[in-house]
Amino acid sequence: MTSSECVLEMRNICKNFPGVKALDDVTLNVVPGRVHAIVGENGAGKSTLMKCVFGIYAADGGEVILNGQPVSFANTKQALDAGIAMIQQELLPIPERNVMDNFWLGRFPQRNYGIVKIVDEKKMYVDCKAVLDDLKIDIDPATKVANLSASKIQLMEIAQAVSYHSKVIIMDEPTSSLTENEVEHLFAIIRRLRDQGIAIVYISHRMEEIFEISDEVTIMRDGRCIGTYPTSEITSEFVIKQMVGRTLTNMFPPRENIPSDVVLKVENLTSISEHSFKDVTFEVRKGEIFGIGGLVGAQRSELVEALFGLRGVRSGTVRIDGKKVVITNPIQAKHYKIALLTEERRATGIFPVLSVLDNTLMASIGRYVRKSGLVDQKRAATDVQREIEMLKVKTPSLTTHLEYLSGGNQQKVIVARWLMTEPDILILDEPTRGIDVGAKYELYSIIAELAKSGKTIIMISSEMPELIGMSDRIMVMCEGRVTGILQGKEATQEAIMTLATQLM
Ligand SMILES: Nc1ncnc2c1ncn2[C@@H]1O[C@H](COP(=O)(O)OP(=O)(O)OP(=O)(O)O)[C@@H](O)[C@H]1O
Ligand SMILES: [Mg+2]
Repeated sequence: MTSSECVLEMRNICKNFPGVKALDDVTLNVVPGRVHAIVGENGAGKSTLMKCVFGIYAADGGEVILNGQPVSFANTKQALDAGIAMIQQELLPIPERNVMDNFWLGRFPQRNYGIVKIVDEKKMYVDCKAVLDDLKIDIDPATKVANLSASKIQLMEIAQAVSYHSKVIIMDEPTSSLTENEVEHLFAIIRRLRDQGIAIVYISHRMEEIFEISDEVTIMRDGRCIGTYPTSEITSEFVIKQMVGRTLTNMFPPRENIPSDVVLKVENLTSISEHSFKDVTFEVRKGEIFGIGGLVGAQRSELVEALFGLRGVRSGTVRIDGKKVVITNPIQAKHYKIALLTEERRATGIFPVLSVLDNTLMASIGRYVRKSGLVDQKRAATDVQREIEMLKVKTPSLTTHLEYLSGGNQQKVIVARWLMTEPDILILDEPTRGIDVGAKYELYSIIAELAKSGKTIIMISSEMPELIGMSDRIMVMCEGRVTGILQGKEATQEAIMTLATQLM
């Protein structure tokens, strides 16, 4: 590949943060009409590299060359104007405004009104709808963003990036909130853009996606590029080995224990809201890993949020150890030793300006309060340190603000927070979203260990291999109703998909 074929080149990029060498002499070329994947463990430097290109960070060294010209953007608007768009890993829409306000932010169309110019709301609506329709994305531009699901927000951001007519579109974990069908939808969009000669940079932790959509793969490790390969010439085993520096065989740990007594029994549970879960009945045993599958809109998250007291219930019963319980808030849920790792961790779980220590300790601080009323800092820090090491969280120190950790490492901190509460019933909503393959493997082992030690695990996942590989049984939902419960080994992708699309 000669540099004249490239639309975007990164040459010898370096970037340091306090205590971290995030990028160390990274060189990478991006070609028009191709999908260039970047993979690497959490904290490898993928997002930082792209933020240096997109004008969010200034690199400490090296050059960015766009269409043969060195460029340096002071902000994202300059990058967008020059033809580079980026869908960021952390979705940052303004929830209180509607879709079209977010869509046109920073570039509101105007019209004359007498002698003044005013925002042309009609044009905003029409043009936004045209982009969404063209991409077959079913969102009304007048909807308030707060009322959209995570996947719809992600699709909105994708449409927004496309609407800039950029030459390069960077997608940092664009599928983290999408289900399989929506991923296919996104891929159709990507293929169309690629065929129009647009260069796509695609960052993802999902190997299947990388191999389905990319033309070449760059592997990063510890802030360095360790190689770029044509996708057709490599295997996922090779990529994983290069990424984590070792081979991972048997992604899923063997299940050694047999689930015993029923711990949680849910009967005919129906949501207070009209279009949510209805008539849900299931039971989960001690030591069991109970998977919940389904498509977006299946109301899986709504169901577990109700169990955790975050949503109202119209009818039905919940029993814990045979005793009927009514849980109307998370404090009660905690009392019954239920923990919930929410799906939308960025909105509901992360405190960016607090330290790693405080973020991890938050839900279990009560255990560390001494008689004097003061927190036993030393004991707390030791336990947090152990948890953080077990999950291999990459952080300069326990006092580092969470906002300075990479996306995947932030997620691991939230997982650590809930493990620290030592719950009996641990509900995990998309636990491995955004987490690298090596860490996934660690997390699967931890989940299996917890089940073995007698905890009850409920796990929602949109990743079929994970759902099948981990669960003893899988309950499948479609539009708020349970369409079937499959025994672990009889669960195939086809069986799950059939139930997931089966309206009752
Ligand atoms: N604003 C910042 N301040 C300090 N350190 C930072 C900042 N942003 C990133 N880092 C650090 O730089 C390193 C690279 O982070 P980066 O976000 O680029 O990783 P990544 O490869 O995108 O990982 P992930 O897969 O988890 O998203 C990490 O060690 C991270 O903690
Ligand atoms: Mg990242």
